[in-house]
Amino acid sequence: MRHTKVKDLLNSTKTLQEVTAKGWVRTFRNNQFIALNDGSTIHNIQCVVDFENTPEATLKRITTGAAIAVTGELVESQGAGQKYEIQVKKLEILGDSDAEKFPMQPKKHSLEFLRENAHLRVRTNAFGAIMRVRSVLSFAVHQYFQQKGFVYVNTPIITGSDAEGAGEMFQVSALPFDNTPRTEDGKIDFKQDFFGKQTNLTVSGQLEAETYAMALGQVYTFGPTFRAENSNTSRHLAEFWMIEPEVAFNDLADNMDLAEDFIKYVIKYAVDNCADDLKFLEGRLLDEEKSKPQAERSEMALLEKLNFVLENNFKRVSYTEAIDILKDSTPNKKKKFQYLIEEWGADLQSEHERFLVEKHFKSPVILFDYPAKIKAFYMRLNDNTEPGKETVRAMDILFPGIGEIVGGSQREERLDVLIEKMKVLGIEEEELWWYLDTRRFGTAVHSGFGLGFERLVLFVTGMGNIRDVIPFPRTPQNAEF
Ligand code: 4AD
Ligand code: MG
Repeated sequence: MRHTKVKDLLNSTKTLQEVTAKGWVRTFRNNQFIALNDGSTIHNIQCVVDFENTPEATLKRITTGAAIAVTGELVESQGAGQKYEIQVKKLEILGDSDAEKFPMQPKKHSLEFLRENAHLRVRTNAFGAIMRVRSVLSFAVHQYFQQKGFVYVNTPIITGSDAEGAGEMFQVSALPFDNTPRTEDGKIDFKQDFFGKQTNLTVSGQLEAETYAMALGQVYTFGPTFRAENSNTSRHLAEFWMIEPEVAFNDLADNMDLAEDFIKYVIKYAVDNCADDLKFLEGRLLDEEKSKPQAERSEMALLEKLNFVLENNFKRVSYTEAIDILKDSTPNKKKKFQYLIEEWGADLQSEHERFLVEKHFKSPVILFDYPAKIKAFYMRLNDNTEPGKETVRAMDILFPGIGEIVGGSQREERLDVLIEKMKVLGIEEEELWWYLDTRRFGTAVHSGFGLGFERLVLFVTGMGNIRDVIPFPRTPQNAEF
């Protein structure tokens, strides 16, 4: 008999004579009540075993983690907590699970322990919920852009360019580690490498996406990106997924409008389509926060926080205004910041971003017009800026509890200005000849941004560590699984 998903059984509108469910045992109580989960929903279905007519040997094999199939009648449940349950007529053990050895015991495990068992943690309520929300969010990303007529572009994973110019790249090579071919002056001879040149894993698909925007108008990427930055924080991964829209003829204000509309759309989509999972995650967060001192607890519960973002405009604040606010702030005056803000031009650290968002504005913030010196080479230089105080049309979106969730800009569309900038930064023209062609042939104002997908999932699920919102996190010293 075909089996029915637990979600559909629980949502049934009537009792059913005979149904089959397949899944994994979460708990087995009183030799009678199985809580069965198949991943289709956070909820388990209760399966009531007729223990008097079930062989003792079979009952013993109904253990946490075992895969089973049950067939029986779907009846209204007498017990609290569920509308329907299955009165089991036939039970088959599909795969045993040694209760002594199965790591996912029906009790609270630390997140650290669960990370070490990332292949099994998805069998817990929390990780099942997180991964379903993640999946729904990625669908919403595509839905949003597709509805608006954007073209989905797959930019290369292996590339020769450093899009961010930050040099935090994983090298890709097929050369042997020992006995590496060398040129006469002793350098590694990449001409003999697979691609005949030095290559790396992409840090961003932006530059390639720009070339496509200059033909298709509106494009977006959604793919893995890699950064070899040694940041062992709760916000950084070495491998993360980024969404990068790029739009011809959009200026910075259009770019902000697009980013805000997009973020609100995907959050709303999750709120509308993941109600049970988000309710569970809200409870999890409340529970976790009970162990924190009052001052560190969030002011809003998870769903309230999500709705707050949906209902309020993001505050748009220039870098210069932000610096003035930070200079005058209590933590700056009392030297509570690790990096004190002394003058215009300072790069903002996450402590500053979080102060602005969580303490000062108490709302998502879009910071724009940053000093040119602290931003990437491709950003549009503002007209009429004072020498020494040049700014670029950059924007970062900062979120409560997360910090930077989006980084983007209007792009420098003027060939001469772009080349000059690259010269100053020591970026070889020959390396980016193809990128410069977009400015040579039919250049136009255009803008785009990158949203770190895991940071979005962090925000929506209320989790505190980015390692817990991607199935198999890649971080310094960790590439297990
Ligand atoms: O600010 P970033 O570095 O911008 C770019 O890569 C641009 N090329 C985007 C564009 O304009 N098309 O990265 C964009 C976003 C950040 O705001 C952050 O959300 C996320 O990517 N991000 C990371 N997420 C997880 N782990 C890391 N190590 C991340 N680095 C950046
Ligand atoms: Mg950034």
